[in-house]
Amino acid sequence: MFVTTRSIASTAKRAFSTSAVSNAAKVAVLGAAGGIGQSLSLLLKQNPNISDLALYDIVNTPGVAADISHINTNSKVTGYVPENNGLAKALEGSNVVVIPAGVPRKPGMTRDDLFNTNASIVQGLADACAQYCPTAHILIISNPVNSTVPIVAETFKARGVYDPKRLFGVTSLDVVRASRFVSEVKGGDPKDIHITVVGGHSGVTIVPLLSQSGKSFTQEELDALTHRIQFGGDEVVKAKDGKGSATLSMAFAGARFANSVLEATVGGKRGIVEPTFVESPVFADQGVEFFATNVELGANGVEKIHPLGKLSAYEEKLVEAALPELKKNIAKGKSFVASKQ
Ligand code: NAI
Repeated sequence: MFVTTRSIASTAKRAFSTSAVSNAAKVAVLGAAGGIGQSLSLLLKQNPNISDLALYDIVNTPGVAADISHINTNSKVTGYVPENNGLAKALEGSNVVVIPAGVPRKPGMTRDDLFNTNASIVQGLADACAQYCPTAHILIISNPVNSTVPIVAETFKARGVYDPKRLFGVTSLDVVRASRFVSEVKGGDPKDIHITVVGGHSGVTIVPLLSQSGKSFTQEELDALTHRIQFGGDEVVKAKDGKGSATLSMAFAGARFANSVLEATVGGKRGIVEPTFVESPVFADQGVEFFATNVELGANGVEKIHPLGKLSAYEEKLVEAALPELKKNIAKGKSFVASKQ
């Protein structure tokens, strides 16, 4: 039975004026000087659940950290670069690690085109996490998420510390977009529009379940909205014209997801549900080990993976199209790690 997700409004509110988490938390951002990293760090500095904000990048974090550290909230901000064992220091004691490190798309590129560069970056950072904060909750933003999440899993396995409950691919932006895009077509406040998005995080693997929204759509609306939700990232890539992909909306979505993880894990709050790409039984029997659905978060991370719920015939076809692509993306991530061992 499908369980309804909580509202975008309540999650957004949680990101900015949250109930205090009893044990303050250390959060590390890896790639903190980038487009997403800086905005995300700014939002996390406003989060009262965080006591220590560790900002790591290969360049420029001293400046970003000095700047953000002047904001008059309680958390302590520290910038780290690779010199002087910076990565280890950033990670030690972290409860949550958010990873937006890596190159973004340029016009005409798919997320998979980023694989060659980002796979190595993510693997290196994951290996450091496995050594210095093996029990932290790891939130992967770096693309291609469908492959980078399996890369992290395999890297943790190689160090003997993999816990599937603590690894998350961040797909929140797809849900944020879906709610906004549907509101533009159907009217209403996006905070009241709840769209479940499942699958993965690229093109046809992004599957919005519009039939579960409680709204009715013409076939033309369904086609247009589904396409816009699947390829919404391209609108930003095109508009930025070679200067990158979504950073501000991604930072918003990432900050919201990080806060939900903090509230559930450090704060002990129950019943928080977020969409996320995790190791999942939903299509494991078809060889698809990772899949995004709504996931209830708990003290140890993934508490309960929700099933898909009732699908329309249209959505069944979308899922059918997503599965082979996902399988390929996951296998690519896994074989990348295997080839390095
Ligand atoms: P950016 O180029 O502005 O920033 C990336 C940062 O990563 C740079 O500051 C760079 O120095 C840093 N970096 C590179 N190698 C590193 C390493 N080994 N250790 C630490 N930091 C390192 O890129 P942007 O726009 O912030 O995007 C970052 C990633 O997020 C891209 O892969 C992009 O495709 C992805 N993304 C994911 C989304 C999602 O929904 N999951 C949405 C939008 C972007």
